[in-house]
Amino acid sequence: MARHLITSAIPYINGIKHLGNLVGSQLPADLFARYQRGRGHEVLFLCATDEHGTPAELAAAKAGKPVAEYCAEMHETQAEIARGFRLSFDHFGRSSSPQNHRLTQAFAARLDEAGLIEERVETQIYSKADGRYLPDRYIEGTCPNCGFESARGDQCDNCTKQLDPIDLIEPRSVISGSTDLEPRETKHLYLRQSKMRGELSDWIDSKTDWPVLTTSIARKWLNDGDGLQDRGITRDLDWGIPVRKGDAEWPGMEGKVFYVWFDAPIEYIACAQEWVDAGKGEDWERWWRTDKGADDVRYTQFMGKDNVPFHTLSFPATILGSGEPWKLVDYIKSFNYLNYDGGQFSTSRGRGVFMDQALEVLPADYWRWWLLSHAPESSDAEFTWENFQQSVNKDLADVLGNFVSRVTKFCRSKFGEEVPAGGAHGDRELALIADLERRVRAYEGHMDAIEVRKAAAELRAIWVAGNEYLQDAAPWASFKTDPEAAAMQIRLALNLIRLYAVLSAPFIPDASAQLMEAMKTDDDAWPGDVAEALSVLSVGHGFAVPDVTFRKITDEERADWHARFAGIRS
Ligand code: 2FM
Ligand code: ZN
Repeated sequence: MARHLITSAIPYINGIKHLGNLVGSQLPADLFARYQRGRGHEVLFLCATDEHGTPAELAAAKAGKPVAEYCAEMHETQAEIARGFRLSFDHFGRSSSPQNHRLTQAFAARLDEAGLIEERVETQIYSKADGRYLPDRYIEGTCPNCGFESARGDQCDNCTKQLDPIDLIEPRSVISGSTDLEPRETKHLYLRQSKMRGELSDWIDSKTDWPVLTTSIARKWLNDGDGLQDRGITRDLDWGIPVRKGDAEWPGMEGKVFYVWFDAPIEYIACAQEWVDAGKGEDWERWWRTDKGADDVRYTQFMGKDNVPFHTLSFPATILGSGEPWKLVDYIKSFNYLNYDGGQFSTSRGRGVFMDQALEVLPADYWRWWLLSHAPESSDAEFTWENFQQSVNKDLADVLGNFVSRVTKFCRSKFGEEVPAGGAHGDRELALIADLERRVRAYEGHMDAIEVRKAAAELRAIWVAGNEYLQDAAPWASFKTDPEAAAMQIRLALNLIRLYAVLSAPFIPDASAQLMEAMKTDDDAWPGDVAEALSVLSVGHGFAVPDVTFRKITDEERADWHARFAGIRS
């Protein structure tokens, strides 16, 4: 039995995520976790909310709530929606947890001891009216390039020019509107990751089996321009993890917090501690410390491509720089973007379908199937309502759902609600079994390699094979001349339903559970040998005809949803 540590990039707390976020990290991570559990392996699957930084502060201010209260509420909201999508986290933690505070401060102390932290003085904008330094996004003014009056300190949304707050004409505070701003000197900590360039470069070079998307982004950051830049890991903000050297004060750093991208990945480890502290697990170190057994763990991370530099370089720099025996990631699966109906999904502009809205429209399995079978792996992908309707109606309703319904209803009407006897398998059955044997092994190969689209295509082919067999064998016809043969065919088909439930569970867990219940079995063992797996339900075993497994999406619904989600969410 292997041990799999699996983490999904932790979503920002600043609002409900859209389907593009979901398909780029949490959902494929869940697919992989469910698959590995299904194969009988030990899995620790972790995710959390990313609660620090300016986005959290801004979102709380917009909601008119204290930031701690906002984060606590939004964490619950995100947790609830994750349950709705059947994301099977062993723990859904919070980067603001006490565990993460302690661990982040301990990492900073270790990095300092290792000579990898440098204090630097920089000039930043201070607002006297607000009594604080303003991060770039908290400053607005007129763009020096195009004259747009609401350009942000870091970028002009009108002409897209990258800006420095100092460049803005008539800069003002986003918080108070005050123009009484002045540049002031302030001290910050820098992680000298440039010193680790060689080590990181060798490590990336050794990852020859990683997706090209992952390694090409990492190499670009390692090699472009000046290469790996040292990185500021502190900020002048109120909300965040206070800068301390382990348990001790950090002189000169009073009132400052760690940068959100420093503490967020450390939460992957802290989350395992939260899992233990919540009474759900016994020992987090055997997952995370190579001196405590984590050498045997295979660690896989899931994320969108924008997160790759932080996971291939910055977080490994933290881990390696600490000089402590922490587990490094073994495989990074990254994704391109999912677009929405001719444009981009956008949280800030409220464009697209958000996770809560999706579940109001249809249950999780419908979304899981479409999103995973169209995962943006080799290039960006696009969600359209037409494509969604087509996939659901064809794959789920016509192929899988229809098979289940025809087989169970035919059996009930001709043989009653138990597996009929009939004779031994004939040539057609043996050919089907041989074909499925090949296909199941191919499916496993794609799942092991986390080739999500290919796995979905193979699973669909496995459903299709059953349908074609049924069409070909036509037990409703053979029943009239040779009821023995028809019984044998239906016995096989009922067993196929159970096999489908087991194989499909990582993609469509609710439907899978429904089929297992209908087949009145809890034998969900992964098929080692397909012929054997197709004889688990023996003659006389009871079953029930399930309710409709998947319904079709009508043209009216499609048009209605298209119109409903064309606008912008307020
Ligand atoms: O892009 C995002 O949603 C970030 N909150 C991901 C952070 S992943 C990590 F480092 F923890
Ligand atoms: Zn501009």
